[in-house]
Amino acid sequence: MTRPVAVVTGCAGFVGSHLVERLLADGWRVRGVDAFTDYYPRVEKEANLAGVVMDAAFELLELDLSRDELAPLLADRPVVFHLAAQPGVRGSFGEGFAIYVRDNVLATQRLLEAACASRCGRVVWASSSSVYGDAAAFPCREHETPTAPRSPYGMTKRACEDLAGIYRVQGLDAVGLRYFTVYGPRQRPDMAIRRLCEAALARTTFPIYGEGDQIRDFTYVDDVVEATVRAARAEAPPPILNVGGSQSATLMQVIETIGELAGHEIELDRHPVQRGDVRRTGADTSLARETLGWEPQVQLRDGLAATVEWARGRTYASL
Ligand code: UGA
Repeated sequence: MTRPVAVVTGCAGFVGSHLVERLLADGWRVRGVDAFTDYYPRVEKEANLAGVVMDAAFELLELDLSRDELAPLLADRPVVFHLAAQPGVRGSFGEGFAIYVRDNVLATQRLLEAACASRCGRVVWASSSSVYGDAAAFPCREHETPTAPRSPYGMTKRACEDLAGIYRVQGLDAVGLRYFTVYGPRQRPDMAIRRLCEAALARTTFPIYGEGDQIRDFTYVDDVVEATVRAARAEAPPPILNVGGSQSATLMQVIETIGELAGHEIELDRHPVQRGDVRRTGADTSLARETLGWEPQVQLRDGLAATVEWARGRTYASL
Protein backbone atom coordinates (compact mmCIF):
# COMPACT_ATOMS: atom_id res chain seq x y z
CA MET A 1 0.00 0.00 0.00
CA THR A 2 1.39 3.45 -0.82
CA ARG A 3 1.83 5.74 2.10
CA PRO A 4 0.02 9.11 2.09
CA VAL A 5 2.38 12.07 1.75
CA ALA A 6 2.45 15.01 4.14
CA VAL A 7 4.42 18.24 3.96
CA VAL A 8 5.03 19.69 7.43
CA THR A 9 6.37 23.25 7.49
CA GLY A 10 8.12 24.26 10.70
CA CYS A 11 8.93 20.57 11.17
CA ALA A 12 11.86 21.26 13.52
CA GLY A 13 9.82 23.43 15.86
CA PHE A 14 8.02 22.50 19.05
CA VAL A 15 4.62 21.43 17.68
CA GLY A 16 5.98 20.54 14.22
CA SER A 17 8.44 17.96 15.52
CA HIS A 18 5.75 16.22 17.58
CA LEU A 19 3.44 16.21 14.56
CA VAL A 20 6.13 14.63 12.36
CA GLU A 21 6.62 11.80 14.87
CA ARG A 22 2.91 11.15 14.99
CA LEU A 23 2.47 11.15 11.20
CA LEU A 24 5.37 8.73 10.73
CA ALA A 25 3.92 6.45 13.40
CA ASP A 26 0.60 6.57 11.52
CA GLY A 27 2.30 5.43 8.29
CA TRP A 28 2.68 8.71 6.38
CA ARG A 29 5.67 9.72 4.31
CA VAL A 30 6.72 13.10 5.64
CA ARG A 31 8.50 15.87 3.78
CA GLY A 32 9.62 18.22 6.54
CA VAL A 33 10.39 21.84 5.76
CA ASP A 34 12.22 24.24 8.04
CA ALA A 35 14.15 27.46 7.50
CA PHE A 36 15.95 27.14 10.86
CA THR A 37 15.38 30.81 11.64
CA ASP A 38 17.44 32.16 14.53
CA TYR A 39 14.51 32.78 16.93
CA TYR A 40 16.16 30.14 19.09
CA PRO A 41 19.24 27.98 18.60
CA ARG A 42 19.45 25.69 15.60
CA VAL A 43 21.01 22.96 17.71
CA GLU A 44 17.82 22.80 19.75
CA LYS A 45 15.67 22.43 16.63
CA GLU A 46 17.95 19.69 15.34
CA ALA A 47 17.57 17.92 18.66
CA ASN A 48 13.79 18.12 18.22
CA LEU A 49 14.19 16.00 15.08
CA ALA A 50 16.61 13.47 16.60
CA GLY A 51 13.96 10.76 16.76
CA VAL A 52 13.00 10.99 13.08
CA VAL A 53 16.02 11.96 10.98
CA MET A 54 17.03 8.34 10.45
CA ASP A 55 13.53 7.27 9.43
CA ALA A 56 13.48 6.38 5.71
CA ALA A 57 9.96 7.81 5.44
CA PHE A 58 11.18 11.25 6.55
CA GLU A 59 12.90 13.81 4.35
CA LEU A 60 14.17 17.17 5.60
CA LEU A 61 14.26 20.18 3.28
CA GLU A 62 15.83 23.40 4.47
CA LEU A 63 14.02 26.16 2.67
CA ASP A 64 12.46 29.55 3.23
CA LEU A 65 8.75 29.81 2.45
CA SER A 66 8.99 33.58 1.99
CA ARG A 67 11.54 33.31 -0.82
CA ASP A 68 12.18 29.85 -2.26
CA GLU A 69 10.31 28.15 -5.05
CA LEU A 70 7.50 26.03 -3.58
CA ALA A 71 5.97 24.29 -6.58
CA PRO A 72 8.37 21.27 -6.52
CA LEU A 73 7.52 20.68 -2.87
CA LEU A 74 3.84 20.32 -3.68
CA ALA A 75 3.93 18.68 -7.12
CA ASP A 76 2.55 15.33 -5.89
CA ARG A 77 -0.38 17.10 -4.17
CA PRO A 78 0.44 16.22 -0.56
CA VAL A 79 -1.60 17.11 2.48
CA VAL A 80 0.08 20.23 3.90
CA PHE A 81 0.49 20.99 7.58
CA HIS A 82 1.66 24.59 7.75
CA LEU A 83 3.13 25.27 11.18
CA ALA A 84 6.11 27.43 10.22
CA ALA A 85 5.88 30.93 11.69
CA GLN A 86 7.65 33.61 13.60
CA PRO A 87 6.04 32.94 16.98
CA GLY A 88 5.84 34.91 20.20
CA VAL A 89 3.51 37.71 21.21
CA ARG A 90 5.80 40.03 23.11
CA GLY A 91 8.64 40.27 20.59
CA SER A 92 6.41 41.34 17.75
CA PHE A 93 6.48 45.06 18.51
CA GLY A 94 9.07 47.47 17.15
CA GLU A 95 11.61 46.66 14.46
CA GLY A 96 11.02 42.94 14.91
CA PHE A 97 7.63 43.25 13.20
CA ALA A 98 9.23 43.01 9.74
CA ILE A 99 10.15 39.40 10.49
CA TYR A 100 6.55 38.62 11.49
CA VAL A 101 5.27 40.08 8.24
CA ARG A 102 7.77 38.05 6.23
CA ASP A 103 7.55 34.73 8.05
CA ASN A 104 3.83 34.77 8.82
CA VAL A 105 1.96 36.86 6.25
CA LEU A 106 4.23 36.58 3.21
CA ALA A 107 5.28 32.96 3.84
CA THR A 108 1.65 31.89 4.33
CA GLN A 109 0.45 33.73 1.23
CA ARG A 110 3.16 32.07 -0.88
CA LEU A 111 2.39 28.64 0.53
CA LEU A 112 -1.37 29.02 0.01
CA GLU A 113 -0.83 30.32 -3.50
CA ALA A 114 1.42 27.35 -4.37
CA ALA A 115 -0.92 24.83 -2.70
CA CYS A 116 -3.85 26.27 -4.63
CA ALA A 117 -1.95 26.11 -7.93
CA SER A 118 -0.83 22.52 -7.22
CA ARG A 119 -4.36 21.49 -6.20
CA CYS A 120 -3.17 20.13 -2.89
CA GLY A 121 -5.55 17.94 -0.95
CA ARG A 122 -5.85 20.05 2.17
CA VAL A 123 -3.84 22.64 4.06
CA VAL A 124 -4.14 22.47 7.85
CA TRP A 125 -2.41 25.48 9.33
CA ALA A 126 -1.64 27.01 12.72
CA SER A 127 -3.56 30.11 13.70
CA SER A 128 -3.54 31.37 17.27
CA SER A 129 -5.70 32.29 20.25
CA SER A 130 -4.06 35.69 19.99
CA VAL A 131 -6.47 36.68 17.20
CA TYR A 132 -9.14 37.15 19.89
CA GLY A 133 -7.18 39.77 21.86
CA ASP A 134 -8.86 40.79 25.14
CA ALA A 135 -12.26 39.19 24.57
CA ALA A 136 -15.31 40.63 26.33
CA ALA A 137 -16.76 37.21 27.25
CA PHE A 138 -15.43 33.69 27.76
CA PRO A 139 -15.07 31.06 26.47
CA CYS A 140 -14.32 32.40 23.00
CA ARG A 141 -16.40 30.94 20.16
CA GLU A 142 -15.24 30.93 16.56
CA HIS A 143 -18.47 32.38 15.15
CA GLU A 144 -19.41 34.71 17.98
CA THR A 145 -16.32 36.23 19.53
CA PRO A 146 -14.96 39.11 17.45
CA THR A 147 -11.30 38.98 16.55
CA ALA A 148 -9.38 41.99 17.84
CA PRO A 149 -5.66 41.18 18.17
CA ARG A 150 -3.68 43.08 20.79
CA SER A 151 -0.24 42.34 19.42
CA PRO A 152 1.36 42.71 16.00
CA TYR A 153 1.90 38.95 16.12
CA GLY A 154 -1.84 38.35 16.59
CA MET A 155 -2.53 40.74 13.74
CA THR A 156 -0.32 38.65 11.41
CA LYS A 157 -2.17 35.47 12.38
CA ARG A 158 -5.46 37.28 11.78
CA ALA A 159 -4.13 38.34 8.37
CA CYS A 160 -3.29 34.69 7.64
CA GLU A 161 -6.91 33.79 8.42
CA ASP A 162 -8.03 36.38 5.88
CA LEU A 163 -5.58 34.97 3.33
CA ALA A 164 -6.83 31.44 3.91
CA GLY A 165 -10.39 32.69 3.36
CA ILE A 166 -9.34 34.27 0.09
CA TYR A 167 -7.71 31.05 -1.17
CA ARG A 168 -10.70 28.98 -0.03
CA VAL A 169 -12.78 31.00 -2.45
CA GLN A 170 -10.20 30.03 -5.09
CA GLY A 171 -10.89 26.37 -4.32
CA LEU A 172 -8.24 25.59 -1.70
CA ASP A 173 -9.35 23.37 1.17
CA ALA A 174 -7.68 25.22 4.08
CA VAL A 175 -8.41 24.65 7.77
CA GLY A 176 -6.95 27.02 10.38
CA LEU A 177 -6.56 25.86 13.97
CA ARG A 178 -6.46 28.48 16.70
CA TYR A 179 -3.99 26.88 19.09
CA PHE A 180 -4.20 28.09 22.70
CA THR A 181 -0.86 28.36 24.58
CA VAL A 182 0.59 24.95 23.72
CA TYR A 183 2.93 23.36 26.27
CA GLY A 184 4.76 20.08 26.79
CA PRO A 185 8.18 18.56 26.12
CA ARG A 186 10.26 20.70 23.69
CA GLN A 187 8.28 23.86 24.38
CA ARG A 188 10.01 26.93 22.95
CA PRO A 189 12.60 28.49 25.27
CA ASP A 190 10.79 31.87 25.45
CA MET A 191 7.55 30.41 26.80
CA ALA A 192 6.45 30.48 30.43
CA ILE A 193 6.14 26.77 31.28
CA ARG A 194 9.52 25.89 29.81
CA ARG A 195 11.15 28.74 31.69
CA LEU A 196 9.39 27.75 34.90
CA CYS A 197 10.60 24.15 34.65
CA GLU A 198 14.15 25.34 34.08
CA ALA A 199 13.98 27.85 36.94
CA ALA A 200 12.66 25.20 39.33
CA LEU A 201 15.26 22.60 38.38
CA ALA A 202 18.27 24.91 38.07
CA ARG A 203 17.20 26.97 41.12
CA THR A 204 17.27 30.20 39.16
CA THR A 205 14.63 32.93 39.10
CA PHE A 206 11.62 33.15 36.78
CA PRO A 207 10.98 36.56 35.17
CA ILE A 208 7.27 37.09 35.88
CA TYR A 209 5.43 39.65 33.76
CA GLY A 210 2.74 41.27 35.91
CA GLU A 211 1.20 39.76 39.04
CA GLY A 212 0.73 36.23 37.70
CA ASP A 213 -3.05 36.64 37.68
CA GLN A 214 -3.26 36.40 33.88
CA ILE A 215 -5.30 33.39 32.81
CA ARG A 216 -4.35 31.03 29.99
CA ASP A 217 -6.13 28.08 28.44
CA PHE A 218 -3.06 25.82 28.42
CA THR A 219 -3.11 23.02 25.82
CA TYR A 220 -0.93 19.93 25.96
CA VAL A 221 1.04 19.25 22.79
CA ASP A 222 -0.30 15.70 22.29
CA ASP A 223 -3.85 17.07 22.28
CA VAL A 224 -2.83 19.69 19.72
CA VAL A 225 -1.26 17.04 17.49
CA GLU A 226 -4.38 14.87 17.74
CA ALA A 227 -6.62 17.79 16.70
CA THR A 228 -4.26 18.63 13.83
CA VAL A 229 -4.24 15.08 12.47
CA ARG A 230 -8.03 14.88 12.77
CA ALA A 231 -8.39 18.18 10.91
CA ALA A 232 -6.52 16.61 7.99
CA ARG A 233 -8.76 13.55 7.93
CA ALA A 234 -12.19 15.04 8.67
CA GLU A 235 -14.77 15.07 5.88
CA ALA A 236 -15.51 18.78 5.58
CA PRO A 237 -14.24 20.67 8.61
CA PRO A 238 -15.03 24.36 9.11
CA PRO A 239 -12.40 26.91 8.02
CA ILE A 240 -11.44 27.91 11.57
CA LEU A 241 -11.46 25.87 14.79
CA ASN A 242 -10.40 26.52 18.37
CA VAL A 243 -7.93 24.02 19.77
CA GLY A 244 -7.72 24.68 23.50
CA GLY A 245 -7.08 22.53 26.55
CA SER A 246 -10.28 23.76 28.25
CA GLN A 247 -8.43 24.08 31.56
CA SER A 248 -7.83 27.73 32.19
CA ALA A 249 -5.45 28.51 35.02
CA THR A 250 -3.66 31.57 36.28
CA LEU A 251 0.06 31.81 35.74
CA MET A 252 0.47 31.80 39.54
CA GLN A 253 -1.35 28.45 39.80
CA VAL A 254 1.02 27.01 37.20
CA ILE A 255 4.02 28.43 39.07
CA GLU A 256 2.91 26.71 42.28
CA THR A 257 2.20 23.39 40.57
CA ILE A 258 5.54 23.27 38.77
CA GLY A 259 7.29 24.17 42.04
CA GLU A 260 5.54 21.24 43.75
CA LEU A 261 6.31 18.81 40.91
CA ALA A 262 9.95 19.83 40.76
CA GLY A 263 10.29 19.87 44.54
CA HIS A 264 11.48 23.47 44.71
CA GLU A 265 9.57 26.70 45.23
CA ILE A 266 10.27 29.01 42.28
CA GLU A 267 11.77 32.38 43.05
CA LEU A 268 10.20 35.24 41.11
CA ASP A 269 11.89 38.17 39.45
CA ARG A 270 9.14 40.75 38.96
CA HIS A 271 8.67 42.73 35.75
CA PRO A 272 5.81 44.89 34.44
CA VAL A 273 3.05 43.45 32.25
CA GLN A 274 4.42 43.16 28.72
CA ARG A 275 2.96 44.89 25.68
CA GLY A 276 0.55 42.71 23.76
CA ASP A 277 -0.09 40.28 26.65
CA VAL A 278 -3.81 39.66 27.09
CA ARG A 279 -5.44 39.22 30.50
CA ARG A 280 -7.11 35.96 29.67
CA THR A 281 -7.64 33.30 27.02
CA GLY A 282 -10.26 30.57 26.99
CA ALA A 283 -11.53 28.34 24.20
CA ASP A 284 -14.96 26.94 23.55
CA THR A 285 -14.04 23.70 21.79
CA SER A 286 -17.53 22.46 20.98
CA LEU A 287 -17.04 23.06 17.24
CA ALA A 288 -13.92 20.84 17.23
CA ARG A 289 -15.84 18.22 19.21
CA GLU A 290 -18.73 18.26 16.74
CA THR A 291 -16.67 18.32 13.54
CA LEU A 292 -13.47 16.43 14.45
CA GLY A 293 -14.74 14.30 17.32
CA TRP A 294 -11.87 15.87 19.27
CA GLU A 295 -11.66 16.78 22.92
CA PRO A 296 -8.58 17.58 24.97
CA GLN A 297 -7.54 14.57 27.06
CA VAL A 298 -4.58 15.68 29.13
CA GLN A 299 -5.16 17.25 32.54
CA LEU A 300 -3.02 20.31 33.24
CA ARG A 301 -1.24 18.73 36.22
CA ASP A 302 -0.37 15.60 34.21
CA GLY A 303 0.89 17.64 31.29
CA LEU A 304 2.99 19.80 33.59
CA ALA A 305 4.43 16.68 35.24
CA ALA A 306 5.47 15.33 31.82
CA THR A 307 7.05 18.67 30.95
CA VAL A 308 8.98 18.83 34.23
CA GLU A 309 10.32 15.31 33.58
CA TRP A 310 11.40 16.27 30.08
CA ALA A 311 13.18 19.35 31.41
CA ARG A 312 14.80 17.22 34.12
CA GLY A 313 16.17 14.89 31.43
CA ARG A 314 17.66 17.85 29.57
CA THR A 315 19.20 19.24 32.73
CA TYR A 316 20.96 15.93 33.47
CA ALA A 317 21.99 15.49 29.84
CA SER A 318 23.78 18.85 29.89
CA LEU A 319 25.76 18.08 33.09
C1 UGA B 1 1.71 31.60 23.43
C2 UGA B 1 2.75 31.52 22.30
O1 UGA B 1 3.97 32.11 22.70
C3 UGA B 1 2.29 32.18 21.05
O2 UGA B 1 3.20 31.91 20.00
C4 UGA B 1 0.93 31.63 20.71
O3 UGA B 1 0.45 32.11 19.53
C5 UGA B 1 -0.01 31.92 21.84
O4 UGA B 1 0.47 31.21 22.99
C6 UGA B 1 -1.42 31.51 21.56
O5 UGA B 1 -2.09 30.95 22.41
O6 UGA B 1 -1.88 31.80 20.49
P1 UGA B 1 1.43 33.12 25.51
O7 UGA B 1 0.05 32.80 25.92
O8 UGA B 1 1.94 34.49 25.78
O9 UGA B 1 1.67 32.90 23.95
O10 UGA B 1 2.32 31.97 26.19
P2 UGA B 1 3.60 32.04 27.14
O11 UGA B 1 4.74 32.64 26.42
O12 UGA B 1 3.79 30.71 27.72
O13 UGA B 1 3.15 33.08 28.29
C7 UGA B 1 2.08 32.79 29.18
C8 UGA B 1 2.03 33.91 30.20
O14 UGA B 1 3.22 33.86 31.00
C9 UGA B 1 1.98 35.31 29.58
O15 UGA B 1 1.09 36.13 30.29
C10 UGA B 1 3.40 35.82 29.73
O16 UGA B 1 3.50 37.21 29.88
C11 UGA B 1 3.86 35.12 30.97
N1 UGA B 1 5.33 34.94 30.97
C12 UGA B 1 5.93 34.32 29.91
C13 UGA B 1 6.06 35.38 32.03
O17 UGA B 1 5.52 35.93 33.01
N2 UGA B 1 7.42 35.22 32.01
C14 UGA B 1 8.06 34.60 30.97
O18 UGA B 1 9.30 34.47 31.01
C15 UGA B 1 7.29 34.13 29.89
